[in-house]
Amino acid sequence: MIGIVLAAGNGTRMWPLTKSISKHLLPIHDKPMIYYPITTLMFAGAREIVLIATPQHVRSYRELLGDGSQWGLKFHFIIQETATGIADCFRLIPKTLQSQTATLILGDNFFFGMGLGQTLRNSFSGEGALCLAYKVANPSEYGVVVFDQFGNPSKIVEKPEGHISHWAIPGIYWFDHQCYGLARSLKPSQRGELEITDLLKSYLENARLQTQILPRGTTWLDAGTPRSLLSASSYVAVIEERQGLKIGCPEEVALHEGYIDSSAFNDLVLRLPQGDYKTYLQGLI
Ligand code: G1P
Repeated sequence: MIGIVLAAGNGTRMWPLTKSISKHLLPIHDKPMIYYPITTLMFAGAREIVLIATPQHVRSYRELLGDGSQWGLKFHFIIQETATGIADCFRLIPKTLQSQTATLILGDNFFFGMGLGQTLRNSFSGEGALCLAYKVANPSEYGVVVFDQFGNPSKIVEKPEGHISHWAIPGIYWFDHQCYGLARSLKPSQRGELEITDLLKSYLENARLQTQILPRGTTWLDAGTPRSLLSASSYVAVIEERQGLKIGCPEEVALHEGYIDSSAFNDLVLRLPQGDYKTYLQGLI
């Protein structure tokens, strides 16, 4: 399985914060935003990760993340020239990686909660596609899924105008290798984008879409506006300060998941500059 992180887009909802900085490099409390989706993919079992960025920002991602080997990963950096929708990212995935299943996460999506690692690792059968469903108070801001009386998905709509479901579709998706061909046949939506929900619909129409409801004890936030970025930052600060543990820390996840051994972890920590982050990691040794 490959992981894909979509960290492109113009970040217009964050302007002027995003005039010179990529949205996904802005801080969620004490770490760059991109650390959170990357660690989510690590928990999902992805070791090979394609990061999609704009031409303007790809250098910053290379500088921040390196080749990934320090965390037991392999990063591929791919440029998306124009923001033409989430489903467009499949066009950019190198042919050599297209035989594998893919887990796609949006660079501004944040997940946290007990048992989440297991859900992320074990929910997808490897056939068809899988999306999650999460109850929200503001479903019209998201793609939503409608369930029939048997609990099966019956309809998917991107940002519905009226209320049709309170089940939003979070920005993490699993696909089999057919997604590449299906994504090529999508047509742009009214807002001119290749919608990820249209790709999910092609699976739904062939009864090949699985859904998994995230329990209310799981936290899903997206940090795509100044207000939601502040909420995500406050959330991480409250939990981290209360527990003395960090959320979204790739070094810790790499050690925990056995992607690096303790001697590689020690070497990595030794190279970090003095500060709270290093002190935290030293405490794990
Ligand atoms: C995108 C997707 C939407 C999904 C949301 C999750 O919306 O189009 O289906 O529910 O991410 O964050 P956007 O943030 O691009 O408006």
